[in-house]
Amino acid sequence: MMFDRTMLLQRFEDMYAAPPTHVIRVPGRVNLIGEHIDYCGLSVLPMAIDRAVWLALRPNHLEKIRIATTAVGFTPAEFSTLTPIVTGQPGDWVNYVRAAAETILTGNLLVHRTSPPGFDALIDADLPLAMGLSSSSALVVATALALVVTAGMDDLEHVCENNPSFCLELADELARGERYVGTAGGGMDQAACLMGCSECAIRVDFDPLAVTPVPVPPDWSFVIAHSGDKAEKSGAAQQVYNRRTEEARRAAQKAWNILGEPECFQMASDEGLRSYEGLLEYTDILEKSKKILDSTSYRRFRHILTEARRVSHAEEAMRAGKLAQFGKLLTASHRSLQDDYEVSTHQLDAMVDTALASGASGARLTGAGLGGSIVAICPANNIENVLAGLSYGTPFIVRPSEGATVSLI
Ligand code: GLA
Repeated sequence: MMFDRTMLLQRFEDMYAAPPTHVIRVPGRVNLIGEHIDYCGLSVLPMAIDRAVWLALRPNHLEKIRIATTAVGFTPAEFSTLTPIVTGQPGDWVNYVRAAAETILTGNLLVHRTSPPGFDALIDADLPLAMGLSSSSALVVATALALVVTAGMDDLEHVCENNPSFCLELADELARGERYVGTAGGGMDQAACLMGCSECAIRVDFDPLAVTPVPVPPDWSFVIAHSGDKAEKSGAAQQVYNRRTEEARRAAQKAWNILGEPECFQMASDEGLRSYEGLLEYTDILEKSKKILDSTSYRRFRHILTEARRVSHAEEAMRAGKLAQFGKLLTASHRSLQDDYEVSTHQLDAMVDTALASGASGARLTGAGLGGSIVAICPANNIENVLAGLSYGTPFIVRPSEGATVSLI
């Protein structure tokens, strides 16, 4: 799967009878550690990767978005930029485009810009779709940037490097906006796709959103391998995902109640979920909550609290170049997702075991789980064995990459 820029430009011109004015590149991400805790407001450690969604565009001044993709089986679409923008059928790929348009066109980011919105676009990708690498959020971010370009905002080349506060606000708005497709997601993916940093993973903190680069030691290698089951955010996994966010919220409410803060029962749904940061300060909260939570709720709660601790230990290990330690934390994260959070599959578990048996220092499912991919970390001198061991999952190496960029044609 190779990206061919010349082909994208040519196909755009064939389709719209005029050349594109800009090409937007938005990378996917691999989450290294911190799974299913971003919606609890807890820090995570993803890395933008050297695989991306590319969107060629030209403003059309028609107050319409016309969009197509080079991928087979995805029907082109056209819709008005007048809000509210109505959602298509569940599972329709254009819902991600609509989600971004609705967010940007009804949000505060473009208020002072008057150019009529609307653009023609063609998308290509060397980022595999529905593999747990955030292809959908990359599409959301690319569409949002296309509207920003169309509104005439300049200085967009390295948009987030030049304008970090704009990108933080954009990532925050898009995280909320992506819920338009029905998934009660957190804010990790949009932040990573926008604000990734070359040679680095990033620690993403929430409330307020902040991104801190964490340099990846140059001799660490990351391998992705696919389980064969799709991880579509809008597919069957969506219900399980949304159920987990609800379970997480209820467990937090009960824990606050034990601590004598029952008013947290009254918290609005998001606020209740985001109160985990406060809970982490009580070192005995796990023991205490064991007595009152039923076994399933307790296991969900234990995953969230232990995963948050693993993230901070993993960041320390990465900064200190301690690969073995980092790897152990990744594997522990997987076991917790497998046993406590129950978002793994037999295939993902088997792949993690294969990666470890082939010499990886650690491995885990990445993204929401219930299909998708694993990420394995290995010392550079072991990479061939790991690639060979995982050959049935068409493995490939990913490198840290910078976030979204916009280039003028
Ligand atoms: C999906 C969501 C993210 C995050 C992960 C699980 O990718 O979009 O916000 O919750 O699942 O860590």
